[in-house]
Amino acid sequence: MKKNPQEATNLSRRQMVKNSSLAVAGLGMANIAATNPLQTSANKNQTGKVALITGGARGIGRAIALSLAKEGANIVICDIADQIPSISYPMAVPADLVETKKLVETEGVKCLSMKADVRKSADLKKVVAQTITDFGRLDIVVANAGVANMGYLEQMDDEAWEDVIAVNLVGVARTLKAAIPELRKQEKGRIVVIASVSGRGGSPGMSAYNASKWGVIGLTKSVAGEVGKSNITCNAVCPTAIDTPMLQNDFVRKLWSPNNPTPEGLNEGMKRSHLLPVGLLDPMEIANAVTFLCSPQANFITGVALDVAAGSTARNSA
Ligand SMILES: NC(=O)c1ccc[n+]([C@@H]2O[C@H](COP(=O)([O-])OP(=O)(O)OC[C@H]3O[C@@H](n4cnc5c(N)ncnc54)[C@H](O)[C@@H]3O)[C@@H](O)[C@H]2O)c1
Repeated sequence: MKKNPQEATNLSRRQMVKNSSLAVAGLGMANIAATNPLQTSANKNQTGKVALITGGARGIGRAIALSLAKEGANIVICDIADQIPSISYPMAVPADLVETKKLVETEGVKCLSMKADVRKSADLKKVVAQTITDFGRLDIVVANAGVANMGYLEQMDDEAWEDVIAVNLVGVARTLKAAIPELRKQEKGRIVVIASVSGRGGSPGMSAYNASKWGVIGLTKSVAGEVGKSNITCNAVCPTAIDTPMLQNDFVRKLWSPNNPTPEGLNEGMKRSHLLPVGLLDPMEIANAVTFLCSPQANFITGVALDVAAGSTARNSA
């Protein structure tokens, strides 16, 4: 039975409101595993498929894992689940990986969870090899793992600047390189790279992050040309500000909302940059776009960078 669109909207609205308050309370997205009783295996798009999501321990990666699990895919999540010393906000911990796996399994699919650093090809090869051992195939890759460091270029340590490029650009390239041979074996596949609206313009104090995100959009478009004849699509999603620990931390609140460094202050600031009347978006909004790009409805969409930006990029010419 197909989902009533109105009902689907109401469901996701309710979930969004619940999720935002939980995320602000530091509880992440524990509630979004609620199974939609209207969805049966007959109308799930990804039953029998396998999806790998990097940076899947929390935030947007967790939402993507849950969204693809709801579509019936078996899920592989990997995450560094450790602190990179130059990063000024707390990164994921092993318990986050455990929590995502638990939530994914609530959807009735299998989940392989591994610690892996996307800067290391050897780690990624192990993840892909274990995926094939456990599931025998790989159909979808979402290169989501990312970090942010802020500061004016002339004041930033080389290490802090280069770590962002190493994770957000080199790490994405290495992820795709490790996964593409398995996608080619299926003669069909989906690659989605999580870029950012920061890859659409420039922002003082964010040169490393913006350079990495412009870079992955170029990478995405180039790889789309390399894998297209194998019936593999390769697209980027460019989120605006999303309610995840990357943004919801003291460091970012003080930087972006110095007069009111609270979740509310940050939200109001973001609202001003959007055309639509919304501040920070829920991670599920990005998961919805990724899930669409992996669906049959997007069979012939490739090489695009899709803004999920509440209109914030409409003023730019990029
Ligand atoms: N939150 C936002 O406002 C926003 C906006 C635009 C784009 N993005 C992008 O979305 C993606 C997810 O970010 P998020 O907001 O969920 O942040 P997050 O910090 O909550 O999640 C990122 C995850 O990536 C993992 N990770 C970082 N470095 C890694 C590495 N070297 N190897 C493996 N895993 C690693 C982290 O441990 C973490 O679990 C990132 O690429 C980010 O740049 C986020």
